[in-house]
Amino acid sequence: MDGITDMAYRRIVRKLNPEVVLFSEFTSINGIEHSELVRSRLDFHKEELPYIVQLFGNEPDLFAKTVQQFQDSGISGIDINMGCPAKKIVKSNSGGSLMKDIDLACKIVDACCRANKIPISIKTRLGWDSPDQLITFVKALIAAGVSMVTIHGRTYKQGFKGRANWEPIYDLKKAISVPVIGNGDLKGTEDALEKLKDLDGYMIGRAALGNPWVFWSQSKRDQVTLQDKIDIMVQHFQLLREYKNEKRSLIEFRKHISGYITGFQDAKSCRSLLMHSTCEKDFVQNAMSIA
Ligand SMILES: Cc1cc2nc3c(=O)[nH]c(=O)nc-3n(C[C@H](O)[C@H](O)[C@H](O)COP(=O)(O)O)c2cc1C
Repeated sequence: MDGITDMAYRRIVRKLNPEVVLFSEFTSINGIEHSELVRSRLDFHKEELPYIVQLFGNEPDLFAKTVQQFQDSGISGIDINMGCPAKKIVKSNSGGSLMKDIDLACKIVDACCRANKIPISIKTRLGWDSPDQLITFVKALIAAGVSMVTIHGRTYKQGFKGRANWEPIYDLKKAISVPVIGNGDLKGTEDALEKLKDLDGYMIGRAALGNPWVFWSQSKRDQVTLQDKIDIMVQHFQLLREYKNEKRSLIEFRKHISGYITGFQDAKSCRSLLMHSTCEKDFVQNAMSIA
């Protein structure tokens, strides 16, 4: 998730969940071409493996050039974003816009597969405004070389409104032979296992925000204490500090705080205290004063 699943957070998720597959934030192939800072978003620590890099863009040749750079990096796969509904992305004919352009989507996959031996997967939605073309779209991508698909159970038009609809994802699974991962509105493992049916895996997004325990069973999650949460939150912050300066880390970490600091009486004032921390030392002291 853009702005969330950076290296620090992925390492925290890995520490608590040896078995999950981690995805990078989606990253622009044009950004990678022109900026070392953008490319560095995809850096990883070997403990993160299996780790899949997610890219977006609209130029097959540049995709091929970009994936070649990862050929010997040790990553587990490259995922192409074909579902992002953000206006800026769709306007540039990337992300969700590729659902309307099967030809370009297939050219991108074909270019990536020719250029390297790392598995290529895609993440998309049910369709532009209905699930009618989902099977056709995915079958064409598989013919072009895709070896796994993740489907968020909403259309582009829906944005994040309504409930995710998993029925078209089950229908897709019946129609194809590559692994299908379901995504949309999962709150935890029990919920996910209920939705899984004959799919090959599930992906959790928003419920993982400030909640790296989301992949644990409910009974195990119930045993996580406030002190455990504070300890992991501080470790998460300190991992971020390994590669971001103090000011940036304090700002960027704010979006994780509400996930960690919730569900007890003074949570609101504790969150506010942490949000207003002025330096790393202050943040750690404030965190330690909570439990
Ligand atoms: C803040 C935010 C950032 C996201 N960034 C990405 C991204 O980089 N790549 C991607 O494929 N999906 C991204 N998504 C979509 C999620 O991966 C997921 O498909 C969607 O949130 C539905 O799943 P959920 O209900 O588990 O969150 C993002 C969603 C949010 C809320």
